[in-house]
Amino acid sequence: MKRLLVLLALLVIAGIIGVFVPWHGDAPSINAVGDPERGEYVLAMGGCVACHTDAKNGGALLAGGRALATPFGVFYSSNITPDPEAGIGGWTTGDFVRAMRQGLSPDGQHYYPAFPYPSYAKMTEQDLVDLKAYLDTVEPIGTQVEPHDIGFPFNIRQSLVGWKLLFFDDSPFEPDPGQSDLWNRGAYLVRGPGHCGECHTPRNLLGGPDESRYLAGNPVGAEGKATPNITPHDTGIADWSENDIAFSLESGLTPDYDSFGAGMGEVVKDGTSKLTSEDREAIAAFLISLTPIESAAPSASSTED
Ligand code: HEC
Ligand code: HEC
Repeated sequence: MKRLLVLLALLVIAGIIGVFVPWHGDAPSINAVGDPERGEYVLAMGGCVACHTDAKNGGALLAGGRALATPFGVFYSSNITPDPEAGIGGWTTGDFVRAMRQGLSPDGQHYYPAFPYPSYAKMTEQDLVDLKAYLDTVEPIGTQVEPHDIGFPFNIRQSLVGWKLLFFDDSPFEPDPGQSDLWNRGAYLVRGPGHCGECHTPRNLLGGPDESRYLAGNPVGAEGKATPNITPHDTGIADWSENDIAFSLESGLTPDYDSFGAGMGEVVKDGTSKLTSEDREAIAAFLISLTPIESAAPSASSTED
């Protein structure tokens, strides 16, 4: 409780400072031309379809409106089809890159981190330019999305300046020259577009990620369910081989042939199953190399303790 109050006080102070300190500059002007075919692959790397398509209610591709339940309330994903009114049709490539890397809308509003831009901030400019070129080819849908259903003070977007000052690191992805190309590709996919940490890393009471426990599991993950530890610890996936991991990301099945539940099932269906086997191997190589971290709470599937 005390920790929550301290964090809330910090958030308020940071929010007040934020009113006077503008968050970075204008949208970058980008002349590079994107390749829509490559962009469709980047879409799978980023798992955008799972959140931005309301599949349960028969929603059109990327037309948004999918409800995302969080401890802060219910968010509805945006319409990211190229409709000029309801979607992002009027956006320049620079607007899009700034939204993905800075969490800022074209008119300078802050986005909620329910949109995993803290991970997408690590994506290369070329990947984002190609992704925008692909999004431009999607069928425009004119459906407006309903507003988020969240409580005070989080319903005030300006309070997100506080959140960003405390938790948002917009530094680009840096490859580690001491590691192989495969490992670096895996690190990029996991930390950047794959946004695996958004669900698998625990968060504090204000929704800030605990980077010291990166990928060590989240007792209250997406939709309030526990998300398992995917570091190579006994309480995580120590007994999974690299092949097991790559196979599960392709098939949606664990090594015991259980199928993944909702959250991870979608990640596989609209994301990792569409990647090349080399990219799945890269993800596996990176996960296997992580420092093993013990889970704070036993994961749902764990039989230990
Ligand atoms: C975990 C769910 C989730 C994933 C995955 C996700 N988004 Fe979103 N996205 C959201 C939510 C929620 C919002 C609304 C944020 C807000 O209102 O502050 C949003 C907003 C956006 C916006 C701003 C739209 C506007 O009209 O202002 C863009 C652009 C966007 N997302 C693109 C993407 C792309 C591209 C991907 C894949 C690389 C992606 N998103 C993946 C949940 C998600
Ligand atoms: C939307 C939230 C979400 C995202 C994003 C996500 N996961 Fe998961 N993941 C889950 C959930 C929930 C489970 C548990 C599924 C189950 O028990 O059926 C899981 C399970 C797993 C497992 C199996 C662990 C075990 O012990 O059974 C692996 C491996 C895994 N995820 C890897 C990844 C990788 C790699 C990424 C990034 C490419 C990723 N996940 C992104 C939610 C997510």
